[in-house]
Amino acid sequence: MKILVIGGAGYIGSHVARYFADRGHSIDVADNLSTGSEINLFPDYGFFKGDILDYPWLLEVMKQGGYDALVHLAAAKAAGESMLKPEKYSLQNLAGTINIINAAAEAGIRNIVFSSSAAIYGEPKYLPIDELHPCEPENYYGFTKLKIEEILRWFDKLKGMKFAALRYFNAAGYDPAGVVHGLEKNPANLIPVIMEVAAGMRPELGVFGTDYPTRDGSGVRDYIHVTDLAIAHLKALEYLVEKKESIAVNLGSEQGLSVLEILERARSITGKPIPAVITGRRPGDPATLIASSAKAKELLGWEARYSDIDTLLTTTWNAYQRSMEEKA
Ligand code: WQD
Repeated sequence: MKILVIGGAGYIGSHVARYFADRGHSIDVADNLSTGSEINLFPDYGFFKGDILDYPWLLEVMKQGGYDALVHLAAAKAAGESMLKPEKYSLQNLAGTINIINAAAEAGIRNIVFSSSAAIYGEPKYLPIDELHPCEPENYYGFTKLKIEEILRWFDKLKGMKFAALRYFNAAGYDPAGVVHGLEKNPANLIPVIMEVAAGMRPELGVFGTDYPTRDGSGVRDYIHVTDLAIAHLKALEYLVEKKESIAVNLGSEQGLSVLEILERARSITGKPIPAVITGRRPGDPATLIASSAKAKELLGWEARYSDIDTLLTTTWNAYQRSMEEKA
């Protein structure tokens, strides 16, 4: 198929684009390179540099391509930041994505794979979280993802556009083959922050609270490897084309890892001290977030295979070490 990957120079988008291309699909990437890396743009891709807020540009890209589908991975994704700068998230995640949906409708692109998030659920009312869990987002980022899912449902009803809303839990890791290795710029998530400390790019890790009702007091999350996510994106797209029905599924490993467990394992794997300081809780952080991915297994025949702690940390450390070597 011919596929437009919007945000394909970014952390998750680059893994998705490469995975699709390696399986014979024709890939074009549209990206403004604000957070993505040019080293993630491979010669076998078409590339369109521009911003999803530029509707005429976006529509022209979609019209010229004869695309069978698009994958949208160009959202802002820092939940904490969304509470400080909601305007940025309104623009990029709402206005930008509405532009994508409208342009796809005008250009006749009928299949959309959308990067949604576990953040739409808010504070867990039960665990593991399945797709029937109430959607009461506690941060503006999660709100934007939930609203886009609702708009996609309307465009399915009114325009027959089929979508797969993939609700990622905590995306982490890097390409085990090392082909995709462009580092995230200014990451806020735990594992890249730990690796920046290990690489000497950041002085220390702040551990956001160790007084949670968890096995060691630190926050527990469901980390999902980007390669597992890439596999799920292709399976989801194949589902849309074959079944012609929209879906919304969780993508998680169904395993919980705590901050302190990850920190200790990272010290062991990297051989670095990774200094850390215990701080207060980060507002809005739940103690534990773990997915049920039973629906993705049932509908897509998908389950996590690369999301164990050692693969997550080793592949990430390899990417940071390579970056350090290239800068040396
Ligand atoms: C993980 C754990 C922190 C940083 C966010 C978004 C979510 C999704 C994934 C896109 C928590 C702790 C973190 C640090 C720390 N994004 N932590 N020190 O908050 O679970 O989820 O990213 O879909 O929508 O909300 O991820 O990596 O920020 O935090 O102690 O410097 O690590 O308290 O327990 P989070 P995270």
